[in-house]
Amino acid sequence: MIKHAQQVAVAGPVDMAESPSISPDLAADEHIAPAPRVSIQAFCETVETAAAVQAAGDDRRLAKAHLKIQMGGAAAASEAYRSSPTPNVILIESESRAEQLLENLDQLAEVCDPGTRVVVVGRINDVTFYRELTKRGVSDYLIAPVGTIDIVRAVCGLFSQTDAKPVGRILAVVGAKGGVGASTVAHNVGWAIARDLALDAVVTDLDLPFGTAGLDFNQDPPQGIADAVFSPDRVDTAFIDRLLSKCTDHLSLLAAPATLDRVYDFNAEAFDGVLDALRTNIPCIVLDVPHQWSAWTKRLLVSADDILVVASPDLANLRNAKNIVDILKAGRPNDHRPYYCLNQVGVPKRPEITPADFAKALEDDPVAVIPFEPQLFGTAANNGQMIAEMSSNHKTAELFRQIAQVLTGRAEVKRSRSALSALPFLGKLMKKA
Ligand SMILES: Nc1ncnc2c1ncn2[C@@H]1O[C@H](COP(=O)(O)OP(=O)(O)O)[C@@H](O)[C@H]1O
Ligand SMILES: [Mg+2]
Repeated sequence: MIKHAQQVAVAGPVDMAESPSISPDLAADEHIAPAPRVSIQAFCETVETAAAVQAAGDDRRLAKAHLKIQMGGAAAASEAYRSSPTPNVILIESESRAEQLLENLDQLAEVCDPGTRVVVVGRINDVTFYRELTKRGVSDYLIAPVGTIDIVRAVCGLFSQTDAKPVGRILAVVGAKGGVGASTVAHNVGWAIARDLALDAVVTDLDLPFGTAGLDFNQDPPQGIADAVFSPDRVDTAFIDRLLSKCTDHLSLLAAPATLDRVYDFNAEAFDGVLDALRTNIPCIVLDVPHQWSAWTKRLLVSADDILVVASPDLANLRNAKNIVDILKAGRPNDHRPYYCLNQVGVPKRPEITPADFAKALEDDPVAVIPFEPQLFGTAANNGQMIAEMSSNHKTAELFRQIAQVLTGRAEVKRSRSALSALPFLGKLMKKA
């Protein structure tokens, strides 16, 4: 900063007309791209800010960053860097008055490396002061009190280029059990996002041995996700681009090999490179996540921007959906909770758990309740077509459009009045939570 500040821009918009206030939580359609592998050191003055920074460090978007927090504010920072190099980001909290804070920042500038970005959390809400900060090359200024998501937003904002294309948003779709139609839903929703919302999207089939995305889109590409995940050193945007097969104007497929000549045991980070590459130039990435609980599936779900759990209306699905939703809610405290939909509802003669009971146990309404229609879905699958391609006006095609809108932040879940449950097991499930 300072002496080297010419090129440093102000990262976050600061509306000085606003009175100091806690920024609202993450808006439904707000997208904060994760920060790269950077080092962050925070020098706080209040426990409240230290706690917010600590919680931000646990946010999925800062999972790759290294964060250290200490108390002592700007003075401690200048002291700390007298003899050691500065990290990528320094966050300074100061309760001081303007002159004092600016003086402290000038001292810090003496020992600050050129590439280091400085974010300041202060109590002063004044345009002249703000100009002084900008002049000194401070990257962002937040007015205390700050919430966790404010810190996440500010730090991630330092590394997302504003002139770059929109950064991709990841929607992970997973089944509460195998065979519930999670892949079918993922493919149809991906198709609707591309067709009806005209967003460039890619369906990524993560069921490497048995995935059906190729069949469902009537594609048999020679290359796909296996080429990327088994040669991580080659993965970059251009390489991934060549592995995509085009389905429609806006939709591509990153297909699974669906062959069994090798086995597919992945470590937790196996897909990180692929997703980072996809994210750089595709606005919407739909992950078809197989029904399994392993280090890599858990990591994909926790790190997704949004999650859709697909469940069929029986007890095992209800239990699993609740467990998945609960653990992901806990692992993503600053995000929207996972969405869920019911699928294959209304199988003749089958006793089913009602959507109202699901809503009660999961404490949320489903984004959609998709009926069991073996004729329609069977024909679509056998023809390698989406439901909307067979019959665009069909009610079920409309449901997929609705899910696409909710998952891309263009609509809200239609709320129902969930009736009180008469089922005894619900009490047990709720208590466990
Ligand atoms: N609403 C539905 N009505 C009838 N059949 C369905 C429905 N949804 C999915 N299916 C069928 O269920 C089977 C399993 O679907 P799939 O998407 O592969 O499940 P999963 O990915 O959860 O294992 C497929 O044959 C699919 O066509
Ligand atoms: Mg599947």
